[in-house]
Parts: sequence; C-alpha cells; structure tokens
Amino acid sequence: MMAFWTTVVGASLLLGSAQAMTVEDMLAAPRRSTANVNPTGEWALFSSTKYNWTTHKSSTTWQLLDVTSGNVTEAPFESDVSEVVWVGSTNTSILYINGTNEEVPGGVTLYTADLGEESFSPTLVASLNAPFQGLKATKTESGSINFVVNALAYWKNGSAYNEELATVPLSSGQIYDANYIRHWDTYLTEQRYAVFGGSLTSGYGGYSLEGEPKNLLWGIKDFLTRPETPVQPFGDAGDYDISPDGSKVAFLTKAPELPKANYTASYIYVVPIDGSEAPVAINGPGSSGPETAQGASASPRWSPDSKKLAYAQQDNVSYESDRFKLYVATLDGNGATITGVAEDWDSSPSGVLWSLDGQDLWVTSELHASVRLWIIPHDADASFKPSNITSPNTTLADFALLPSGNALISAASSWTSRIFYTQGPSTPATTLFSAHLVDSELSTVSPSRVSNFWYTGGDGDQIQTFVYYPANFSASEKYPVIMIVHGGPQSTQGDSWSTRWNLQLWAEQGFVVVVPQFTGSPSYGQAFTDKIWNNWGGTPYRDLEKLFEYLETNVSFVDTDRAVAAGASFGAFMMNWIQGHALGRKFKALVSHDGKINQFGAYATDELFFIQHDQNGTIWDNRENYAIWDPLSHAKNFSTPHFIAHNDLDYRVVIAEGYQFFNVLQGLGVPSRFLHFPDEGHWVVNRENSVVWHKYIFNWLKYWAGVEKELIQEGVIKQ
Ligand SMILES: *[C@@H]1O[C@H](CO)[C@@H](O)[C@H](O)[C@H]1NC(C)=O
Ligand SMILES: *[C@@H]1O[C@H](CO)[C@@H](O)[C@H](O)[C@H]1NC(C)=O
Ligand SMILES: *[C@@H]1O[C@H](CO)[C@@H](O)[C@H](O)[C@H]1NC(C)=O
Ligand SMILES: *[C@@H]1O[C@H](CO)[C@@H](O)[C@H](O)[C@H]1NC(C)=O
Ligand SMILES: *[C@@H]1O[C@H](CO)[C@@H](O)[C@H](O)[C@H]1NC(C)=O
Ligand SMILES: *[C@@H]1O[C@H](CO)[C@@H](O)[C@H](O)[C@H]1NC(C)=O
Ligand SMILES: *[C@@H]1O[C@H](CO)[C@@H](O)[C@H](O)[C@H]1NC(C)=O
Ligand SMILES: *[C@@H]1O[C@H](CO)[C@@H](O)[C@H](O)[C@H]1NC(C)=O
Ligand SMILES: *[C@@H]1O[C@H](CO)[C@@H](O)[C@H](O)[C@H]1NC(C)=O
Ligand SMILES: *[C@@H]1O[C@H](CO)[C@@H](O)[C@H](O)[C@H]1NC(C)=O
Ligand SMILES: *[C@@H]1O[C@H](CO)[C@@H](O)[C@H](O)[C@H]1NC(C)=O
Ligand SMILES: *[C@@H]1O[C@H](CO)[C@@H](O)[C@H](O)[C@H]1NC(C)=O
Repeated sequence: MMAFWTTVVGASLLLGSAQAMTVEDMLAAPRRSTANVNPTGEWALFSSTKYNWTTHKSSTTWQLLDVTSGNVTEAPFESDVSEVVWVGSTNTSILYINGTNEEVPGGVTLYTADLGEESFSPTLVASLNAPFQGLKATKTESGSINFVVNALAYWKNGSAYNEELATVPLSSGQIYDANYIRHWDTYLTEQRYAVFGGSLTSGYGGYSLEGEPKNLLWGIKDFLTRPETPVQPFGDAGDYDISPDGSKVAFLTKAPELPKANYTASYIYVVPIDGSEAPVAINGPGSSGPETAQGASASPRWSPDSKKLAYAQQDNVSYESDRFKLYVATLDGNGATITGVAEDWDSSPSGVLWSLDGQDLWVTSELHASVRLWIIPHDADASFKPSNITSPNTTLADFALLPSGNALISAASSWTSRIFYTQGPSTPATTLFSAHLVDSELSTVSPSRVSNFWYTGGDGDQIQTFVYYPANFSASEKYPVIMIVHGGPQSTQGDSWSTRWNLQLWAEQGFVVVVPQFTGSPSYGQAFTDKIWNNWGGTPYRDLEKLFEYLETNVSFVDTDRAVAAGASFGAFMMNWIQGHALGRKFKALVSHDGKINQFGAYATDELFFIQHDQNGTIWDNRENYAIWDPLSHAKNFSTPHFIAHNDLDYRVVIAEGYQFFNVLQGLGVPSRFLHFPDEGHWVVNRENSVVWHKYIFNWLKYWAGVEKELIQEGVIKQ
C-alpha cells in the first residue's frame, strides 16, 4: 500500500554537521503539526511548514507516519489542503478542506479521497461559501458523513461571514456601549465565531452536501453577551466535539449572562447536528452539577456510545488560573446528570479522550512544568490519585488512542521541536520520529544541554529551575548567565520547544541560562499557584533573590559578575520591578518584552478579571493593591541598562507601558533602547520580525555582559 510515495526520512537518520543553531535556523526549521491517526492506528498524517530565507516564503507539505515502523513518507497533496480527517467507507478514507474555492472567492471546498488507493484521486463533495476551519467528522449508521466546522458569522442572521465578499463600510469608526471592546490584538466587530453542522449524503457517484451547513449557536438566548465558539483568541476545534453516532454536537461558549471582561465562566451546550432544536447548556446555572463549579469549561468529549460527555471545569467564576476538575455528564431527556471524577486531584487536567471501551478517561495535565498523560476510570471517586504514565522528558501537545491500547503521543521539548512516540500504561515509550534527528537546523540541540535543579525559594518552598548549557560546556569553566523570568505569571517555562523563547538558542549565544518556576507557577499544586495572589513583587521577587544567592554560592560554572536578565509579559513586569530594587544592581543589563511599568494603568488591559483577581480588587476600592507592586514608583533607583521591546497591537499590555518606561529611563540617563513592531501584538510571530528582535536583544545582552565589544548601530533611528 502507498508504494508510490517516496520515503523522505527515516527516524534513525543522523546528521553529521554540528554548526551552532542560528536564529534563522531555528525560525526556518520545519514546524510540524500534531499527528492525526487513522481508525486502525496504522497511519498518521501531519503537516510540516518551513521557511526559505531566499524567497522569504513559507511552504507546507503533508506527510504520512507509518505508526508501526516510524517511516515517514510524503502525502500526495500539498499546501492547498488545510485540514484532514480520517472518515469514510474504508480505514484509509479521508475528508479534507481545500483552502481554495474556484466558485466563491474567500470560500473553501471539501474533498473525499482514499489514501489506500494506488493513485490519488480526490472527489469534490462540497463548496462552502466562507473560510470554514476546524473540521471534525463521523460516519453515521445510514452511511452519510456528518461534520462540523467553524467560521465567523453574522450576528443578525447567523450566516457565515466571508471577508472577501463583504462590503467595506465607508467609515472605519467603531462604537461600543459596553467594555471588552478589544481582545489580545483585535477589536471586536459585529461578527462572532460559530460552529456549523452539515451532512454529506452518500449516493450514486459519491458524497454530496445536503443543504447548507447550519449555525449551531443560533437559538442561544442573547442575555447580555453574544455566544462565540471557539472562544477567542486561543480556542480551536477542541472547544467542540461531534458525537460518534453523528447526531449531536457539544460546544462551549462564555456565559451569556455575564460580562466577558469580568468573568471567565463558560458553559457546554449540546445541540442536534441539524440544528433542529436550540442548544441546551448542560453545566450552566440550574444544572445538576456541583454549585461550586462556576468557572471556565474545557474539552467537551463524547463517549464512544454518544451518551456521555467528559469535560473539565474550573470552580472560580473569575480566576483564570484556578485548577480544572474533571466531570462526566450523562445525557438524559432535557439535560444531564453530572458527576465529578477524581475531583480532589491537585492537578489541572485539560485534554480529555475516552478509552475505546468507554471505561477510562485519558487526560493531559501538567506536572513540574511538563504536560503528561494520565489514565483515570470515568467513575473514579473524588479521592482517586492518578499517576503520570509519561515522563518529564517531553511535554505533550496532543495524543490519540490506538486499537493496541497504547497512545500515539505528539510532544516536544527544548531538544526537539516535534517527537512522535507510542506509550501505554505499562508499555515503555517507543520513539517513532524526532525532529532533532532529521532537521539539520536542530543538529546541535540535545537533551544533554538541559537539566534542572531545585532550591529553597523566598518563602521556603522548593523552586524548580531549568538550566540550559552553551555549546561545548565544561563545568570547570565560568560562563556569563542569563536569568529568564517567565510570563503568566500563572504559567510555566519548562523543558519545551518555543519559536519565541527558544532557550537552547539563547544558551547557544555562550551563556548559561537559568529559568526558575517561581511562586505562582502552576503544576506544583494549586496552593503554590495561589501564593502569587496580590503578591506580584513579593514572594516571586524573593525567589529570584534566593536564586541569585544560590548561583553565587553553589554553582561554580556561573560568573555572577556577568549576569543579565530578560522576561516577557509578567516576566517583563518583574524586570521593571527588579530595576527599581536591590536585585537590579546585580545585573549588568535587563530586557523587557511587553511588560507593565505602571500598575495604575492596569485598566487599559482587555481581561479585567485577570487584574481584579491578581490585585484582589478594583482600582477604585483597592487602590493600595495596585500601588504596592508598582514598578514606576521606584523610578529614582533605575540605573541598570535596559532594553524595551513593546508592540503596537498589544492590547493586553498596551504600548503606553513600554513607551513611558523608555521616556523615564532616557530622562534618568540610563542606557536604554526601544524596539517596537507596529504589526505585532503581545508576541513577535512574523519570522522576519523575530530575526530583528533576536539580533538586537542578543547583542544588548552580550555587549553588557562583556561578550561583544559593540552595540549594533546599523538600523538604529536617530532623533
Ligand atoms: C530557497 O529558495 C531558493 C530559491 O527558490 C532555492 O534555490 C533554495 O534551494 C531554497 N532553500 C531551501 C532550503 O529550500
Ligand atoms: C522504511 O523505509 C525504508 C526505506 O525506504 C525501507 O527500507 C523499510 O522497509 C521501511 N520499513 C517499513 C517497515 O516499511
Ligand atoms: C478497518 O480495519 C479493521 C481492523 O483491521 C477491520 O476490522 C475493519 O473491517 C476495517 N474497516 C473497513 C471499513 O475496511
Ligand atoms: C484544491 O482546489 C483547487 C481548485 O480550487 C484544485 O486546483 C486543486 O487541485 C485542489 N487540491 C486538492 C489537493 O484537492
Ligand atoms: C446575513 O446578513 C448579511 C449582512 O447583513 C448579509 O450580507 C447576508 O446576505 C445575510 N445572509 C442571509 C442568508 O440572508
Ligand atoms: C465588573 O467587576 C467590577 C469589580 O467587581 C464591578 O465593580 C463592575 O460593576 C463589574 N462590571 C460589570 C459590567 O458587571
Ligand atoms: C512520573 O513523573 C515522575 C516525576 O517526574 C517521574 O519520575 C516518573 O518517571 C513518571 N512516571 C512515568 C511512568 O514516566
Ligand atoms: C524519556 O526518558 C526515559 C528515561 O531516560 C526513557 O526511557 C524514555 O524513552 C524517554 N522518552 C522519550 C519519549 O524520549
Ligand atoms: C565546539 O567544539 C567543536 C569541536 O572541538 C568545535 O568544532 C566547535 O566550533 C565548538 N563550538 C563552539 C560554539 O565553540
Ligand atoms: C547551597 O546548597 C546547599 C546544599 O544543597 C544548601 O544547603 C544551601 O542553602 C545552598 N545555598 C543557597 C544560597 O541556596
Ligand atoms: C474567586 O476569585 C476571587 C477573586 O477573583 C476571590 O475573591 C474568590 O474568593 C474566589 N472564589 C473562590 C470560590 O475561590
Ligand atoms: C483579598 O481581599 C479579601 C477581602 O478584602 C481579603 O479577605 C483577603 O485576605 C485578600 N487576599 C489576599 C491574598 O490579599
């Protein structure tokens, strides 16, 4: 089978050259999607996107992983295919989205094909009038294929929105009566994302679309705010699921009766796939779930018999870093009976799948800064203590369950941008594919260049700290050191792959890089996370002081006289706080990317629930909580060279924060540089921008640490 596709890579192919990984290498190297496995568990499809610095273009190919051997071959289609699902009359049948539509500009098309056939002969089965995405599909008993997709939709009539066909208004003005007018990097418009359900019926000559896909959110009562699925900006097809029998769809949307800027709460709704009845919230107010469960919901997943839904939900209605708990909803006539699953487990499960026999839930949850896989009986009582079946050496992105009883895991780590491996509860990991063994760009990243240690933090807690080593590291030498403070603050930065903060790349610049999981980081128990509440410059700052002392006294290969520090978001707030405090004098230079300098400006952000929780109150009633950790109040002490990067489309930490900080540093005569991208938000995503970001920031750190002699002048705009 599939003999006509050439083998492109074998999992054991090793590359000889050991040229240091450059910024361009890291950014251009293939970025692979997670693996999408077929029903027999023999084949998995994934996409791979790489960048060419000569043409300045990216290109995407699709590849097939032989799950038995790890062999990877080219799939017979390329970048015009945006998504694929395995569904149809055979175990190798697929349904895919072709991102072009010859009849409708801005639309897409659906095709069926069979990858088991000797030649690739796709059939066009549907023309869709908007840029639909997020395809999930299942074959029904009658032989049709029922599917769901999502797209922006007109609020007034529910029909899908196609930007290319829409009339552009003559004025650009936008007017609002309630806040939450913009989010992340986008202003809210009239349109909202919605899930659409459709059916491809099987007839003579193949499948054809029956009618138009229906907006399944249509009919939710518009109490106060508009429903939207996937929840923007990071929601995706994981926010909804189609039942295996094809009859129903579950999706989540933020609570329609609560203002979105103030609350995190979201509910799961169930609706017939043909939209013949209005959606019903199964865990909203008045449901049979526990009264304590009022927060955000995640990962609704149907059981194999289509009768139950597993999902996760937070308790707190307005705290985004509360832990998620697992639930199973058994559907009955009009609602559902909800039971908790291992609710006392002090972990925060997110990704959920039912075992093929419908008995267990396989869930992902983070432990010690790595996302692991866990198995829990679906009826486990509150006290059940799950154990991780995957190890700390990778962090999971996704997984699929194979008929063999093992999981096919898509993961990554600082030393591989993508690894596919199989593992079961009692079967050790078998690596099928790892990017670092085949991508020449990654030939110097390695598991031996990362480790971690624990030290005693500011309030006596053990703080896990990741360490990255420069090329040809020798413990008998001394290296300059970079301390990285992660964002969040309730998030982690463990041994993982990132194209924005790639820490093996940072170490490659000749530094030892240390990355503490300071107080407030999740995956060390909810109590540890909650300790950062109303405490931003408190315990976390003391953790960093203790880390510095630890490096001074206990780590011989680090030269603390050549120490620098960098951080983004909360990490940049911490840089700005350090600048005004004693620890600031220990660093030769600091770097802030999109961080706050002025706590009194907190209400310029989008998600007010975040600041109102973390500062424990409002600026009008609890002004002292905003004053206490305000970096700008310590401006008189500012004296360490500081690089500020801040982007114009960052609506989370607005550019005014970076700009006023720069004005203050310049006024005080503190060496400082300002870099901004007018077309980037909270992150730098565009590869051409990222090269510039890395170039000036690495040079800044190296110059002040005494590694490079000159600050780059080329490209710097003078007054
Ligand atoms: C990049 O594109 C150029 C020009 O088309 C081509 O010659 C070169 O081989 C490409 N590089 C890679 C790594 O594919
Ligand atoms: C994997 O690919 C190699 C090279 O094409 C081939 O020799 C080998 O037989 C393949 N293995 C399997 C199990 O298909
Ligand atoms: C798919 O594969 C399974 C297991 O090999 C087999 O039992 C089943 O009949 C196959 N289904 C189809 C439609 O070929
Ligand atoms: C995608 O659609 C275009 C026409 O819009 C067609 O030319 C192309 O062959 C299609 N590709 C695939 C893989 O279906
Ligand atoms: C829905 O409303 C939009 C905007 O008014 C309009 O362009 C579109 O044609 C309408 N769709 C239907 C099906 O009426
Ligand atoms: C949002 O929360 C704040 C603080 O609790 C409250 O004062 C305000 O009235 C809330 N806004 C809305 C629209 O409910
Ligand atoms: C579970 O995690 C612990 C702690 O990180 C690790 O030592 C252990 O090997 C993991 N278990 C498995 C089965 O990988
Ligand atoms: C993780 O490390 C353990 C212990 O060294 C090893 O047995 C396992 O194969 C590793 N897993 C992966 C996916 O690399
Ligand atoms: C590391 O050592 C190798 C072998 O001695 C050498 O070729 C390479 O240039 C060194 N790399 C760095 C970054 O010093
Ligand atoms: C250095 O390590 C020792 C032994 O682990 C520990 O007792 C001591 O507290 C560490 N020093 C600092 C400053 O953390
Ligand atoms: C939820 O968080 C708020 C602050 O945002 C806090 O006042 C409240 O005590 C928390 N409630 C629960 C049930 O944890
Ligand atoms: C938050 O505010 C409440 C009410 O004023 C107070 O009881 C609680 O101790 C505060 N929590 C923190 C962590 O500051």
